[in-house]
Amino acid sequence: MQKICVVPGDGVGSEVIDSTLNILECLDLPLSFERTVVGIESFEKNGAYLTDDALSLASDCDAILFGALTTPNDRNYVSPLLLLRWNLELFANVRPAKCLNPEFCLSPLDLVIIRENSEGIYGGMERELDDGKIVTERIVSEAGCQRIIDFAFKYAISNSRKKVSCVHKANVLRASDGMFKKLFYGSAVNYAFYNKIKSDDCLVDAAAMYLCKEPDIFDMIVTLNLYGDILSDEAAGLIGGLGFAPSANIGEEHALFEPIHGSAPDIANKDVANPTGSILSAAMMLEYLDMTNKAAVIWDSVKAVYSDKNKWTKDIGGNCGTEEFTWHLRNEINQQAANR
Ligand code: IPM
Ligand code: MG
Repeated sequence: MQKICVVPGDGVGSEVIDSTLNILECLDLPLSFERTVVGIESFEKNGAYLTDDALSLASDCDAILFGALTTPNDRNYVSPLLLLRWNLELFANVRPAKCLNPEFCLSPLDLVIIRENSEGIYGGMERELDDGKIVTERIVSEAGCQRIIDFAFKYAISNSRKKVSCVHKANVLRASDGMFKKLFYGSAVNYAFYNKIKSDDCLVDAAAMYLCKEPDIFDMIVTLNLYGDILSDEAAGLIGGLGFAPSANIGEEHALFEPIHGSAPDIANKDVANPTGSILSAAMMLEYLDMTNKAAVIWDSVKAVYSDKNKWTKDIGGNCGTEEFTWHLRNEINQQAANR
């Protein structure tokens, strides 16, 4: 029995996690679930957004299933999601953007973005100077770049992808992004020779444009933290919206799975949130736990449900709320499981 730490969070986080657990339950998996509270609710109860107990539970489990958290109006707030990424050294953020039905996608996209998840501008190193200007520091290390580049090429090999594009801003950030690009091509030569994986590179502003205009030129993207954050939301926009985008935060010893959307307090508790991103994140978790057949049942069933317009979620103009969609998906999974 493997142990999953469940962090529903708040806003739509708890709704999409309820739906996801409902789906996992009907797959009859050798998993046990333990819930923990982080974020504003934890701060109100325990005086910390992420308690030591919550962190140690997360690090004791085989994987973490995470919903979403609302950012409070508190100058000292550091997102527990970022704290988990740093403390558990989840250096690689895997963000697939796959179109499930061309009828509601702007592009029939099948792209995977590999985002560096531990460095960049996310360190919170901001300080105010005497004249009121604010300086923000950004860390890009050779080791950090090399491990995300290797992760991306290894992912390409094990998932039969054809090309990895390095996305950067080396024309301006010449030392940091310049090093990232140089290391990328240093590795790309070997992966081209031994594994036939192609490679190229693109400035991040141009990549944002090509993602709209000609997304087919990309197969996989490897990029630095903030660029990956922004481009993955853009890619989600091409496949129906943020509700469709899952992610995996992977480290050497731990892994956390979460939809890429936020807590969307404006639509919380109205039974309208799309749980697909969260459910597909759980499928990525099953792949990570070597339950690839069960993961495939989820991917195939989600696709099958979206092939029927009557089962579409509200964010793409359908009629199904969170619960009704979950109910349709559960039926589909039971049917597929019976036929396998
Ligand atoms: C994401 C989110 C986070 C990020 C926030 C909530 C800190 O936008 O996972 O994409 O910027 O990484
Ligand atoms: Mg984001």
